[in-house]
Amino acid sequence: MKISLIGPPGAGKGTFASKISEKYGIPVIAIGRELRRMAEKTELGRILKEKYWGRGKLVPTKYAMEILKEKINKKGYILDGFPRELNEAKKFDKIDQLDAVILLKVKKSTLMFRLTGRLQCRRCGRVYHIKNYPPKKPGICDICKIKLYKRSDDQERKTIRERLKIFNEEIKPIVKYYKSKGILKEINGEDPISIIIRNIENAVKELKKKKLKENC
Ligand code: AP5
Repeated sequence: MKISLIGPPGAGKGTFASKISEKYGIPVIAIGRELRRMAEKTELGRILKEKYWGRGKLVPTKYAMEILKEKINKKGYILDGFPRELNEAKKFDKIDQLDAVILLKVKKSTLMFRLTGRLQCRRCGRVYHIKNYPPKKPGICDICKIKLYKRSDDQERKTIRERLKIFNEEIKPIVKYYKSKGILKEINGEDPISIIIRNIENAVKELKKKKLKENC
């Protein structure tokens, strides 16, 4: 299964990518997470944070593609937040073919609420929300028992607004591209988590069935 989860910042890409990964045993490739790791370890990572993602801007395609190529396993994967630009979608097609692209749709006011209240564990990557999904002990990861942190690109409303603006500018041609290939499904990302998981699973099944029919 080769799935891409796309949607605005705070739509739930990370949340659902990890849930699908647990269920089907396929790895998640999350470029945003890799960039945050790089920023803690390498000079290039620090520069990319300072110039691009830390300000809410996309990193140049070249770096996103390098991370992707290193992580991709042709047996199956879930791409969390890739592609972000039509250019990335076209470049990716030369590497591999996706079975399904799921677009999570969420209102701007909901996104703001989710991002400003999000907390994350540095070790296991689990995502919490101070109101929606609080950890059992305030500020501490239920699993790793270490202190949770707030992502640097979630700290200022200005940066969040920039991320949302860029998403809105780039998404339309991507949607058109995957619709023309017949592999895109839109899902309401405002629903409760259990319903969204079911809807994603059904959408993936439907797209796979369609592909099998076309190949017969
Ligand atoms: P990335 O890490 O991918 O960030 P993002 O796209 O801004 O998305 P988020 O991680 O903020 O949100 P999410 O959709 O994963 O939501 P989550 O599941 O956490 O990328 C970071 C940066 O890296 C980008 O800005 C860009 O600069 C760069 N980058 C990445 N990929 C790139 C690429 N391909 N090319 C160029 N640059 C790239 O959920 C959010 C919150 O909401 C959580 O608290 C969660 O608990 C809650 N929540 C989720 N779903 C629900 C629900 N249904 N009901 C209630 N609460 C919910």
